[in-house]
Amino acid sequence: MKKVSVVLAGACGRMGQEIKLVLEERAAFASVLEVDRKGKCKQFKALKAQPGVVIDFSSPELFREGLAWAVENEVPFVSGTTGITDQDQVSLKKAAKQIPVLWSANMSMGINFLLSLLPQLKALEGYDIQVEELHHRHKKDSPSGTAKMLQNQLTTSLKRKLPEPVAIRGGGIFGIHKVWVMDEEEVLVFEHTALNRRIFARGAARCAEWIVGKKPGLYQVLDVLAAGTNRD
Ligand SMILES: NC(=O)c1ccc[n+]([C@@H]2O[C@H](COP(=O)([O-])OP(=O)(O)OC[C@H]3O[C@@H](n4cnc5c(N)ncnc54)[C@H](OP(=O)(O)O)[C@@H]3O)[C@@H](O)[C@H]2O)c1
Repeated sequence: MKKVSVVLAGACGRMGQEIKLVLEERAAFASVLEVDRKGKCKQFKALKAQPGVVIDFSSPELFREGLAWAVENEVPFVSGTTGITDQDQVSLKKAAKQIPVLWSANMSMGINFLLSLLPQLKALEGYDIQVEELHHRHKKDSPSGTAKMLQNQLTTSLKRKLPEPVAIRGGGIFGIHKVWVMDEEEVLVFEHTALNRRIFARGAARCAEWIVGKKPGLYQVLDVLAAGTNRD
């Protein structure tokens, strides 16, 4: 099997460090080229080599640079960067006409499984629904991209407006997301807790391994989950 080389955007950040460790452990990956303000290569345009896949966990600014570079160089693009705009979502769709693209605000298999369950709440008509999220004090965007993703799935499938997600910041919490479903006489809570950052790094590596060789298109973590391969 030919090993895949990776360009890792945001390589010196919290997630970047974790992803490097996971990539080292997985047989499918070869060298990692780093793009990060704190690294040797600070911008995509300074890259000299042609990688097999781009993994981006950085900022909306570097995400945009990375996506444009991936399209220009016809390299699959996997991103977990949050805080991106509606216009960026349009750019992802446009890019997906030319290269395989997978973006998710949450690369854990658990949250993506929860996303697939939420449309079933249609059966509980009239229940109040509230998304809540808690994250470490350094998190830049609020509410989290995952909370927005859960909210979007709920409003699209239930076809009704919901109150905005509640965001709490503090300590070192890697990520807790809850969906409260409330009636006068019962409360149902879906809760996902990320116990470490590695869960997202493993998800990103699994997505990157899966996407290499795919046709151009906009893919989701659920597609990777459904393929059921390369659990680790
Ligand atoms: N999808 C998921 O499962 C998931 C999970 C966790 C986190 N995330 C998201 O992943 C992203 C990164 O999170 P993190 O906690 O790793 O953040 P972080 O620690 O701030 O790391 C980001 C890294 O990218 C660098 N960077 C940002 N913009 C740059 C630019 N324009 N040019 C060069 N380097 C740049 C930063 O350098 P400076 O520090 O110098 O700016 C930093 O080293 C965030 O959007 C976060 O919400 C997603």
